[in-house]
Amino acid sequence: MSGRTLAVVSAGLGQPSSTRLLADQLAAATERALPAGTSLDVRHVELRDQGHALVDHLLTGFPSPALGRVLDTVVRADGLIAVTPIFNASYSGLFKSFFDVLDDQALVGKPVLIGATGGTARHSLALEHAMRPMFTYLRAVVVPTAVFAAAEDWGGDSGAAPGLGTLAARVDRAAAELAVQLERQDASRVVDPFAEPTPFEQLLGGQ
Ligand SMILES: Cc1cc2nc3c(=O)[nH]c(=O)nc-3n(C[C@H](O)[C@H](O)[C@H](O)COP(=O)(O)O)c2cc1C
Repeated sequence: MSGRTLAVVSAGLGQPSSTRLLADQLAAATERALPAGTSLDVRHVELRDQGHALVDHLLTGFPSPALGRVLDTVVRADGLIAVTPIFNASYSGLFKSFFDVLDDQALVGKPVLIGATGGTARHSLALEHAMRPMFTYLRAVVVPTAVFAAAEDWGGDSGAAPGLGTLAARVDRAAAELAVQLERQDASRVVDPFAEPTPFEQLLGGQ
């Protein structure tokens, strides 16, 4: 089996960021879950570095060179880990803006592991009522286990809700599911949004 590339997008605002920490743990667990001999090229994307460029892109329709490279990283990756802090019971605006400017074909058929951090485990279902539907709309292959880390999860095992297991166990389960999907992927599959541009005649509506 040849190597795989993995884009890891995290939208935390803090420094250090618990969202980035969860993203790191998910990426490391995915690497461990792949068969021996499979190399994984992990590319981290911190959206806080692209905040201004994302707003500019939304207003002008064009990415800055740096944001363009970040978008390209996600387009070309074999798989994606996407982690957001929960703001007001949903994904953050920064996180949503990134996927709003990403080409809407970029995630079609791409394996995606979703995760979130928050102050309270009561908002863990934001993964299921907000994040998963967005990625399903974009026709990504979202793995069944989504990982939420509440503040108490970072302190040890005591905060684990009954039946959910520890954060480490949830991370390992989700990563194993992503690794299976990555193994199935054809490594040569790259969705290039510019490969088949819309003809000018069509853009101009025949005028
Ligand atoms: C504006 C705002 C709204 C928030 N809303 C929620 C919320 O609805 N539910 C929740 O569990 N945590 C909420 N939080 C806490 C954040 O999810 C938490 O600070 C975040 O996971 C920290 O991530 P970071 O360390 O990567 O920046 C909110 C935080 C902010 C700043």
